[in-house]
Amino acid sequence: MINFLKKITVSIKGTNPKLYYYLIKLAKRYFKNDLGIYPRILANEKEAVIDVLNSSQWNMCDGKGLVHEKLEANFSEYVKVPYSIAVNSGGMALQMAFRALGLKPGDEVIHQIDTCSATAMSVMNAGLTPIFADISKETFMIDLESVRKNKGKNTKALIMTHMWGNADEAQKITLFAKENNLLLIEDACLALGAKSGGHKVGCFGDVAVFSFGAGKPIQGGEGGMIVTSNEALARELKAMRHWGDRSFEFGVRDVTQLSWNGRLSEIIAAVVVEQLKGYPSHVSELQEKVQDFGDFLKKNIPGINIQLGPTNDIRDSVFTQVQLSIDDGLKYSKNDLWGKLKLSGIPVWHANFELINKLSLFKNGTWKEFTLKGDINRINENYNGDFKTAQHVFDYTGLGLNKMNFLSKSNFELLKSVFSNYKN
Ligand SMILES: Cc1ncc(COP(=O)(O)O)c(C=O)c1O
Repeated sequence: MINFLKKITVSIKGTNPKLYYYLIKLAKRYFKNDLGIYPRILANEKEAVIDVLNSSQWNMCDGKGLVHEKLEANFSEYVKVPYSIAVNSGGMALQMAFRALGLKPGDEVIHQIDTCSATAMSVMNAGLTPIFADISKETFMIDLESVRKNKGKNTKALIMTHMWGNADEAQKITLFAKENNLLLIEDACLALGAKSGGHKVGCFGDVAVFSFGAGKPIQGGEGGMIVTSNEALARELKAMRHWGDRSFEFGVRDVTQLSWNGRLSEIIAAVVVEQLKGYPSHVSELQEKVQDFGDFLKKNIPGINIQLGPTNDIRDSVFTQVQLSIDDGLKYSKNDLWGKLKLSGIPVWHANFELINKLSLFKNGTWKEFTLKGDINRINENYNGDFKTAQHVFDYTGLGLNKMNFLSKSNFELLKSVFSNYKN
């Protein structure tokens, strides 16, 4: 019955989103977590929000013992990085990080071609130039050989994106950045808590960014976080989120840096404090279910595997989306699987994002209107480059399963039953 309703609900998402979200709200009320719907309450979010609403401090304001300061302290404790700076989105976190690191128009930032387009746009909105690199077919994350080929004399920074809950090979990439004199930014928007070499993501780069927006590991409606071990950088970032205001440092209002409103609402901070509290047990539940599904695939459907991070250890991944890799040459294609899953009401997506250079902003050359400085011919060549592995993963070998599939018994059974059709 639940599966039948789910099938109808998922099928109307595109045609009647208003009805879809109304039905989801009803379902959440009556079935609670039985439908596996995410985001969900992980601790005491409702009470925490009411506490803020009952106070007179709904806005961020430093040094007052407010909720965002508690969030920053708890976040630092969780990721094991000394300074956390709460901001209003992951994209804002990236822009502020670039500026605080001293990058200037004409400087290039290199990142994988099939991450969220928000990354490329954050680079551009900070006045910089994104340069794309291909991915490794083993990890679905950045390929350093491609970075080597595509970087130029203006390339000043590298983004290590930890995709969909897997940590990238941090040690190797950190060393590469050092050897090539590149600043290293970790984009951990999709991977809070994922581990590389026994350490949680966030501690490897000059800075790391996180997001609390839709589809992220923990959610607040919106929001983000920047973490760093560099005290001076943290101070800069704290000023930067208040339009660069230095009054808390200088005692008088002054602005030394082109900045933004990066402030996080206290109401959202209250939600995220609670989400973070409940997150470790949420991740354990996911890891257990993914392990079970991985065993099922191994036993029944050779050729389709859970795509883990380079450590190949389920306990190092947080499964913001569960990525699958489909071996080349199997008799069932990605398209076939995609169609069957959709038909059964199972939310499915790509393992990574679309290739950014295929999006109109880049394909049609509109990017040139926003590129203030740099070697336009070289950039153009990069945007028209061939990113073979990313394209192959997008077309054939990468599939993403929404974590909702793993968060309720009925969803999980349905998922397995669809995959059972592919039994060898
Ligand atoms: C990898 C990655 N980086 C950055 C962002 C931007 O985060 P936000 O939407 O909070 O600005 C996203 C958003 O989806 C993302 O997936």
